[in-house]
Amino acid sequence: MGRQALTPETPVDEESEATKQRKNGLDRGVSDELAANMKGGWADTERHDLLPIPQAGHTARRRDGLSARFPGERLVIPAGNLKVRANDTFYRFRPSSDYTYLTGDQTEDAVLVLEPAADGGHEATAYLLPRSDRENGEFWLSGQGELWDGRRNSLTENERLLGLPCQDVRALAEALGAGTGPVRLLRGYDAGIEEALSDKVTAERDEEFRVFLSEMRRIKDAFEIADLRFACEATARGFEDVVRSLDRAQETSERYIEGTFFLRARVEGNDVGYSTIAAAGPHATTIHWVRNDGAVRDGELLLLDAGVETRNLYTADVTRTLPVNGRFTPLQRKIYDAVYEAQSAGIAAVRPGAPYRDFHRAAQRVLATRLVEWGLFDDGLDVEKVLELGLQRRWTMHGTGHMLGLDVHDCAAARTESYVEGPLEPGMCLTVEPGLYFQEDDLTVPEEYRGIGVRIEDDILVTEDGNENLSAGLPREADEIEAWMARLKA
Ligand code: GLY
Ligand code: MN
Ligand code: MN
Repeated sequence: MGRQALTPETPVDEESEATKQRKNGLDRGVSDELAANMKGGWADTERHDLLPIPQAGHTARRRDGLSARFPGERLVIPAGNLKVRANDTFYRFRPSSDYTYLTGDQTEDAVLVLEPAADGGHEATAYLLPRSDRENGEFWLSGQGELWDGRRNSLTENERLLGLPCQDVRALAEALGAGTGPVRLLRGYDAGIEEALSDKVTAERDEEFRVFLSEMRRIKDAFEIADLRFACEATARGFEDVVRSLDRAQETSERYIEGTFFLRARVEGNDVGYSTIAAAGPHATTIHWVRNDGAVRDGELLLLDAGVETRNLYTADVTRTLPVNGRFTPLQRKIYDAVYEAQSAGIAAVRPGAPYRDFHRAAQRVLATRLVEWGLFDDGLDVEKVLELGLQRRWTMHGTGHMLGLDVHDCAAARTESYVEGPLEPGMCLTVEPGLYFQEDDLTVPEEYRGIGVRIEDDILVTEDGNENLSAGLPREADEIEAWMARLKA
């Protein structure tokens, strides 16, 4: 239960260690006169004009789906707590994706509880930290006080916004202590809640709960699709910013590219959805290149894998491999075109009813075919044999995609049979992202290939009759890339 040890009745001298840390050296010597002075003279800022958040109807339907699967059981979904960065400083908070999925809220320390109702179904309550108390000085003496952290919504305001009952999270321990029925908890986000429920939950049942939530999130509703669409559009604008910044990047480093994209993500969205990969030259062959401290050179390729996370926390996941000077060399283009062709085959395989693995197989077949044509395997190895033995993977390295949503690798707890071994269904959103990577020290490829890495990644929505490329706002084809770069740099 994180930091909410301070109750309205708790004198500030009896705060938890975490709360004390949050005070950041605040002078604790307070005269009676100052304490009295700070209680009064504040306007009533309660807002009575609030409308429900746009996704409130969707979050209610998602809660209904959860409720139907676990009748008669109390369900507990924490948002999670702040993580200490050092001493009294914290990482920027991001709530558990499942909590936000079910409430639309993003508040630290909050907890959603679905309590079984007498007449079936569940009553949902969001437990949240309310406005700071002014009488006991909490609002300015506590590390969680609104004077320091900013105004919070009152519980009544949150009820209007979220469309569900809200209660003080400091009453939660008591609420959880009551009742003897079965409980399921989303683990991994709130150690205090886990401790409080330790004698009421089992690992096996909680895992079943986590898996179900993950599988629910496979099919995106209209709100989620609109948000993913916006994430892709903002990401396209971030890529355009990067193209315009390439001269400065060549004078500095890959960090300039990372920073340029981050500016767009932070202004239009909440953050980046994952660490930006700004990989110039041979760094493009390192799949998780996030150090981004290398030089950006004329004549080389830049592999940029970046996604804007929206304010509702949905992320895009897009990769473009761009010639730093705006023109591919013939060899770069040859490798690029092979990846482009593989990606096109992969995208074409995305349609409802198709086995999930089809798009991966389609892309891998194209890549293996090109690698065989280029003479990179021993004589006698044809495409079928290469694919059977998986030999292309020396250069294709990773799977061709994954589901996308609130998490960049979304629905990660879904069972194999409902994800990689299941069929595609309308409303799923996935990346298609084949690549070819020739390491600098790979003696099995011609010297001129070494240090070239290419990936192209788009975000594909499965529709009723095929698919839609949500990131189609960015060009994919080599000529179009060059024309687009020339336009942006003009
Ligand atoms: N950027 C992470 C991924 O493409 O999966
Ligand atoms: Mn990516
Ligand atoms: Mn990806």
